[in-house]
Amino acid sequence: DVKYNDALKPLSWLFGKWRSEKGMGKYPTIEDFTYIEEAEFFPIGMQPNVEYKFYSCHPNTKAPMHRETGFIKIKPGTNHIAFVGAHNFGVVDMQEGEVKDQELSVISTQSVGRTSFNKDPEVKKTTRTLKRTNDQLEHVLGMETVKTALTEHLRITFNKI
Ligand code: HEM
Repeated sequence: DVKYNDALKPLSWLFGKWRSEKGMGKYPTIEDFTYIEEAEFFPIGMQPNVEYKFYSCHPNTKAPMHRETGFIKIKPGTNHIAFVGAHNFGVVDMQEGEVKDQELSVISTQSVGRTSFNKDPEVKKTTRTLKRTNDQLEHVLGMETVKTALTEHLRITFNKI
């Protein structure tokens, strides 16, 4: 078993690797789509933070789709957490919130960063919930853009691998 900082106990239910064959993507301005995805969460030595990855692929061709990677920090001694994330399409996003039991929920706390040459529409805000039930992990992501109010973009349930 991996050793980790005591401050990370509230997040330990996330640790390890997860996979799903059926992610559901939608948004009012696009066609619905499906995807497969792997996720992983590992503590960084004895530091009170976690490295994470979400790696999605096309369900038929297996071509890489979206990539998100970053870190989860916890304010030691509390349930207050922060996701510090980078997306391969040129977005950086910091989300904060709370972890409680085997569930967490976070929302963007700063303006979402983007390159000068990102495609429109600009992302204004994101929300995320992660919830573990037995050996399944549900991930739901909401998004607000300059054109569209906060709406679900992604929903997926991973199995522990
Ligand atoms: C479209 C952002 C995750 C697949 C979009 C759009 C935005 C966006 C801004 C354009 C919406 C519009 O035209 O109104 C994000 C953000 C994500 C995320 C912030 C994570 C935090 C993902 C993931 C996948 C994905 C994980 C695939 C597995 C797509 C697809 C489209 C799309 C297929 C439509 C095609 C396109 O416009 O390129 N996303 N996305 N997205 N997203 Fe995401």
